[in-house]
Amino acid sequence: MENAAGRPSACLSIAVLSGKGGVGKTSLTLNLALALEEAGERSLVVDGDLGLANIDVLLGLAPEGSLQDFLLGRAKLEDLVVAVSPGLGVLPAASGAEDLVAVTEASRSLLAESLAPHLAGYGFVFLDLGASIAANVRELSSLARMKIAVTTPEPTALTDCYALMKVLSASQGASDFACIVNSVQEEGEEAFTVQRLGGACSRFLGFEPRFLGAVRQDPAVAKAVCLRKPLLKSFPESMAAQDIRAIARRLLAERASMQARGLLDPPLLGAPAGRRSRVQEAPEQPGEDASLPGA
Ligand SMILES: Nc1ncnc2c1ncn2[C@@H]1O[C@H](COP(=O)(O)OP(=O)(O)OP(=O)(O)O)[C@@H](O)[C@H]1O
Ligand SMILES: [Mg+2]
Repeated sequence: MENAAGRPSACLSIAVLSGKGGVGKTSLTLNLALALEEAGERSLVVDGDLGLANIDVLLGLAPEGSLQDFLLGRAKLEDLVVAVSPGLGVLPAASGAEDLVAVTEASRSLLAESLAPHLAGYGFVFLDLGASIAANVRELSSLARMKIAVTTPEPTALTDCYALMKVLSASQGASDFACIVNSVQEEGEEAFTVQRLGGACSRFLGFEPRFLGAVRQDPAVAKAVCLRKPLLKSFPESMAAQDIRAIARRLLAERASMQARGLLDPPLLGAPAGRRSRVQEAPEQPGEDASLPGA
C-alpha cells in the first residue's frame, strides 16, 4: 500500500498488552489484523503469549512449529510463519509448553534481527502478549514501536492496566501508550474508564495514554471463538466487528502520522531496555488518591 505522499507505507509494530488476563487482547489482535486486511493491508500476527498461546486456536490452525522453537534455536522463522490468507501471516506459539521459555535480551535481539527482513511486505506486525508485567512480556513489548494497553471498564482490569503502564514506564522509559476499552456494556462507561485511567496516569506517571477506541460487549465474540472462525469472518456485521473496524481505521491514521514523523524506521526496536524513569514512587493503584477523576 502507498501512503498519501505516494510512498510505500512503512511497517508499524504494535505490542498488545494488558495487566489483567482475559480482557480480549487475542480476539482484538486477530480481528484488527483482519479489519486491516479488508482495507488492503498485510499484517503479521506474532503469538507472543509463551505460556498460554491462543491465536492458532481462534483460527483453527494446527501449526507444526512455534515461536518457542525459534527462541530455542530449533527452527528458522521462515519455516514457522503460517500464511493464513493474503493479508494475514501468523507466527504461532506453543501453549502449555512444559518448559516455559525465558526471553532474554539476546534472544529478543535475535528475534528482532530475524524478523526484520520478513517485514518488508507487511504494513503491520502485531505482538499478542500474555497478560501481566512478567519479564517475557516486558522483553517482547520492547520490540514494538507502539504499545496498546487493553482494559475493560472493570476496576480490577483498570487497576492492572495502570500497573502495567507504570512498570513499563519505570523499566523502559515508555510513556507513549494507546488504550482500547473492550467489553463496554453501557453508555458512558467508556468515557468514565478513559477519564479515570487518563487522570491517574497524568497525575502519577506524567503522561496520558491515547484512546484508540472502545469495543462493545457482544455475544458474537464468544460465538466466533466456539466456531474457531474469527469474528470478522463469522459475524462481519456484529457490533464488535464494527467497533474493531473503526479502531483499525485509527491505526492506519496513526501509522501515517508516525511515518510522516520518521518514527517507523526500523520497524522493530532492538535496543536493550533498562532506562529508569521518575515514576518509581507512584502509587500501586490508580484509586489511592481520593481526588482522582471519578474517585
Ligand atoms: N467485546 C467482547 N464482547 C464479549 N466477549 C468478549 C469480547 N472481547 C473478548 N471477549 C471474550 O473474552 C474472552 C477472553 O478473550 P481473549 O482470549 O481475546 O482475551 P485475552 O486478553 O487474550 O486473554 P489472555 O490474557 O488469557 O491472553 C473470550 O472468551 C472472548 O470471547
Ligand atoms: Mg490472549
